[in-house]
Amino acid sequence: MIEVRNISKQYRLFERDPGLKGAIKALFKRKYIIKKAVKDISFSIPKGEIVGYIGSNGAGKSTTIKMMSGILTPESGEVKVNGIIPYKDRVSNAKHIGAVFGQRSQLFWDIPVQESMELLKHIYEIPQDIFERNMNQFKEVLDLEPLLPIPVRQLSLGQKMRCELAAAFLHDPSVVYLDEPTIGLDASVKVKIREFVKKMNKEHQTTIILTTHDMQDIEELCSRIIIIDKGTIIYDGSLIELKASTRYNRTIQLELDQNETDFHLPSRLHHQVAVENQEIESSIALHYNSLAISAGEIMKEIMNMYQVKDFTVTELGIEAVVQEIYERGMEPCASIGNY
Ligand SMILES: Nc1ncnc2c1ncn2[C@@H]1O[C@H](COP(=O)(O)OP(=O)(O)OP(=O)(O)O)[C@@H](O)[C@H]1O
Ligand SMILES: [Mg+2]
Repeated sequence: MIEVRNISKQYRLFERDPGLKGAIKALFKRKYIIKKAVKDISFSIPKGEIVGYIGSNGAGKSTTIKMMSGILTPESGEVKVNGIIPYKDRVSNAKHIGAVFGQRSQLFWDIPVQESMELLKHIYEIPQDIFERNMNQFKEVLDLEPLLPIPVRQLSLGQKMRCELAAAFLHDPSVVYLDEPTIGLDASVKVKIREFVKKMNKEHQTTIILTTHDMQDIEELCSRIIIIDKGTIIYDGSLIELKASTRYNRTIQLELDQNETDFHLPSRLHHQVAVENQEIESSIALHYNSLAISAGEIMKEIMNMYQVKDFTVTELGIEAVVQEIYERGMEPCASIGNY
């Protein structure tokens, strides 16, 4: 569905000295610096996949999405979406894509949501029966009904975002770009939006590219993630394998019996387990990698030596995994999995 081949994009940033003098000087001679936002990146995405596109602020995510959706033209390389080059054939591209830019609105500011939707129906030439079917479904999943008579400018952020999502999926697009759709929303709206995205993907095989800083979005929606850092892709693969590739991906919280005063890790575990003594009396955290050793093996060794009162096993959150990758830096495009 999406083919991205060696695309790059740079911006010219104009610099101006401060004050009136700077303004006048800038009239005659403009100084600028070149900012390379995206450097030679490639990936392909099959139909029906939800891909999480993540990276720190300024990494180049929005720039990539803008090139994929036809808003920007890459300096080199090529993008093909459903056989179309988006920035060359913007009209036919627009017919089969949908987009939500968390910071921008595609709805008409002064008119009620219902009328915005009607307008989109005409713009996209959506048949009446499809329009009604979709609107009914959106009303149900996104709880749109009470919002329809209200002008967009009077909606709260979360209400507006629910309408934006409905607008993006209204014409049954085959690809939808979601650039930070959950930014600034409360937990219950986030849950609604995730449910909606899941449902659309499942029912219509919609291909979805999602950028977000909310790792819960990623965990719940994306089986594949692409991580971009300073304009280059540093990881493209499955979420599960990414987690497994970190040094430690699970933690055992261990609570020893009151009679135990001291804890030393059994020597057999020295190479595979890291101990973190916590402040709470006799509660100890043991970090390990589930591919190298199992919780059962660790607990067997420990219970041979200590009286254990309780223990829990928790998996490392994706935040911690991504943090580790940012800090450690992976080989460019370390691809694990079948992509
Ligand atoms: N219109 C523009 N003109 C000049 N530079 C730009 C422009 N848009 C983005 N940049 C620069 O390009 C780089 C990448 O920006 P981009 O918006 O793609 O990042 P991002 O990954 O979406 O970040 P964020 O998580 O903050 O949204 C940044 O250094 C930014 O300053
Ligand atoms: Mg962005």
